[in-house]
Amino acid sequence: MEIVSFGGPSLAVRKSDHRLQTSFGVKEIEIPPRPTIKKLQAVAADCQACDLWKIGTQTVFGEGKQTATVMFVGEQPGDKEDLTGKPFVGPAGALLDKALIEAGIDRTTVYVTNAVKHFKWEPRGKRRIHKKPNAAEITACRPWLQAEIDVVKPCAIVCLGATAAQAVIGPKFRVSVQRAQFVESPLAPFVTATVHPSSILRAPTDEARHEEMERFIDDLKTIWKAISTRKIHR
Ligand code: URA
Repeated sequence: MEIVSFGGPSLAVRKSDHRLQTSFGVKEIEIPPRPTIKKLQAVAADCQACDLWKIGTQTVFGEGKQTATVMFVGEQPGDKEDLTGKPFVGPAGALLDKALIEAGIDRTTVYVTNAVKHFKWEPRGKRRIHKKPNAAEITACRPWLQAEIDVVKPCAIVCLGATAAQAVIGPKFRVSVQRAQFVESPLAPFVTATVHPSSILRAPTDEARHEEMERFIDDLKTIWKAISTRKIHR
């Protein structure tokens, strides 16, 4: 297993910079002293660091054990996540659950979160259609992700899709080419990215969907094997 040095910026905001005034948000993010995931969740519920709180039902913070070995980072909550307040509980989450089971990874031992913690959407008829978060929204939300990493101290961070990969690893990382390859990062001993489960759901045919799912499961197995064989634990 090779860990490549990767020139892209990682999460730019360190502990000392957690008081962040964004140019368009109305409130600073203030990370509570001696943070726990519970404390962070409670404070993030009132986050107004960008304008997405105005259209989202609620902040959807990360979830999982504070002692989790692996942290999965998605893009942003979807419609169902926005309504329930929990990450990865919609169709993409169901696919992730299935892939984790196939790869022999117990979801209760992982922490799942998103680069952006409010649902960005636009109306289409009666439906709320997912809209990709922009760079300013990702930057505004970054202190929360950094705080989650600082608290959980995962052995591995697995970005799901290009938005998360760019937020965590850097803009040069190409998921299609470098999926499941580890990059050097100050954030965790193992940092990598694979496709977003939604991209598998969007595959044009059953056959393509099946193939994409198999590749996704293989990526998860590769990542899990690397972590297990290196025996790096928190
Ligand atoms: N897609 C994501 O990136 N995150 C979720 O929580 C749900 C769907």
